[in-house]
Amino acid sequence: MMTNTSPLNPPALGNATAIVTGGAKGIGAAIVRRLAASGAAVAVIDLDAAAAQALADEVPNVFALTADVGDHASMNEAVEEACTRLNGLDILVNNAGWDHVKRFADTEPPLWDKLIHINLKGVFNATHLALPRLVARGGGRIVNVASDAGRVGSSSEAVYAACKGGTIAFTKSIARETARHGIAVNCVCPGPTDTPLLEEIKQDERAAATMDAIVRATPDRRLAQPEEIAEAVTFFAASPAHVTGQILSVSGGLTMAG
Ligand SMILES: NC(=O)c1ccc[n+]([C@@H]2O[C@H](COP(=O)([O-])OP(=O)(O)OC[C@H]3O[C@@H](n4cnc5c(N)ncnc54)[C@H](O)[C@@H]3O)[C@@H](O)[C@H]2O)c1
Repeated sequence: MMTNTSPLNPPALGNATAIVTGGAKGIGAAIVRRLAASGAAVAVIDLDAAAAQALADEVPNVFALTADVGDHASMNEAVEEACTRLNGLDILVNNAGWDHVKRFADTEPPLWDKLIHINLKGVFNATHLALPRLVARGGGRIVNVASDAGRVGSSSEAVYAACKGGTIAFTKSIARETARHGIAVNCVCPGPTDTPLLEEIKQDERAAATMDAIVRATPDRRLAQPEEIAEAVTFFAASPAHVTGQILSVSGGLTMAG
């Protein structure tokens, strides 16, 4: 039975507990390292068991669990085990994501299903499973990793962008539903970031050319490093609960909200 002992009131990460989905590689791994360096105990939930375990072996106070974020039953087991081992949950980071770059007219429903399964249902599942635990804890933080594609759209990423736009709307809705429980829900939108996913996307010649053009159009003319996204996620994880329902782009000025 969890008690009302959230260390996030006042905000601090020392002794906090966190789940990071898709934490084995890329942006997720940088988030795991950053939260652990701040004193949090972190459960990584990832499909890639070997990469997740390698990170857990390297970073103190981190352990790895294997699950598909889009599968509610598999996530139920992983979140249950994570919360038992962490002795309660303070922070959920919904980071797991996947993309495949192709013009919408050339895609078929199985690709849409896969994108929705990971990028949208994955966020629903982890949030649904974490919320009762955060309420029992007396408060907490949820940080969703969406994308600038969800704010401004992106050619050859229509369904991915729709999922990320959905994640932004979901962030605001859950923030409204949970504020009275001391739970803050916020969203970080990376622009193009130097990760294994971006490398995979750039295998396609046209996608690589598009990425290069986006970088040239970015005011600071470079990709983000995963550690820069992790800083923004940690900012929301450690902010007062009054900071909620907010969307923050980390993209070198590529996207500026009005
Ligand atoms: N890299 C970019 O340019 C960029 C830009 C904007 C947004 N994002 C978003 O940032 C997040 C992280 O992306 P990244 O670039 O680090 O990707 P990545 O592919 O480098 O890492 C993603 C991690 O998620 C895991 N994962 C994938 N599907 C999963 C599933 N079904 N269940 C559990 N784990 C799963 C992978 O195994 C991997 O460890 C994603 O949500 C992505 O959409 C990335």
